[in-house]
Amino acid sequence: MITQAIIPLAGLGTRMLPLTKAFPKELWPLGKISILERILIECNEAGIKEIFLIISKRKNIIKEYFEKDYELEKKISKDASAIKKISILQEYRKKIKFIYQNSAKGLGDAVNTCRKKIKSDHFLLILPDDIIIDKNCSRELISVHKTHKSSVLATKKIKKEYVSRYGILGFSKKKKDVLDINKLVEKPKISEAPSSYAIIGRYILNKKIFKFLSKAKIGKLGEIQITDAMNDLLLSGERFNGCIFKGKYLDCGTLDGYIKSFKEVGAK
Ligand code: G1P
Repeated sequence: MITQAIIPLAGLGTRMLPLTKAFPKELWPLGKISILERILIECNEAGIKEIFLIISKRKNIIKEYFEKDYELEKKISKDASAIKKISILQEYRKKIKFIYQNSAKGLGDAVNTCRKKIKSDHFLLILPDDIIIDKNCSRELISVHKTHKSSVLATKKIKKEYVSRYGILGFSKKKKDVLDINKLVEKPKISEAPSSYAIIGRYILNKKIFKFLSKAKIGKLGEIQITDAMNDLLLSGERFNGCIFKGKYLDCGTLDGYIKSFKEVGAK
């Protein structure tokens, strides 16, 4: 059973500076709720019981957001609707554990901070830049994992000109919406991309990944890349499937993408 999730939030938000300088984008609203709350809801609905939020000292405000604020609660104690609005944060808090990543060495390094925390064979990894609405993507991936007993990545066919912004997968077989992956490359040049299927930020990974992350070399953009460690895990014999998910992908990783996503979600 998949009951643990890792959500890396320690990134510097460089693509959205200066807006992210003091206020992390994960707490920005997307419709009526924050980006992060959308992901927590997805986790809850997918049966996740323990969530590791990876933050840094610069992003302590995320921890504060979930902490009980006695002074505020005293001040609004007669306003039942306001109390109800913040009590939901306490519900999330029960499942959350904060982990610190204080050196910005990339996504692979962030995930590796949880190496001693994962108990069962596989766990869920969610990237908060990628919001998927209309259908619970984590649940879809868990279902593919149950059927194929494999590591599973959310994937979507993209235009060839965008391959160098994503991790791209190669595959040997495609049956309905499930691909048998045989190669993973981080942000390839168009000429080196094994396909146009991009990894979108939902992963079910075997905890053996930590063995490869611990000895991973610096990859693209001078960072430790989870995609490189996944490729090593694949070569060691782990089965990887791609799941062409049914929901709608909203790219909240750039300012233009975020603005478009907000329009798409509207007041939802
Ligand atoms: C990360 C991953 C990449 C993946 C992408 C999805 O890249 O490294 O493989 O395709 O997320 O959004 P980043 O967006 O952090 O550059």
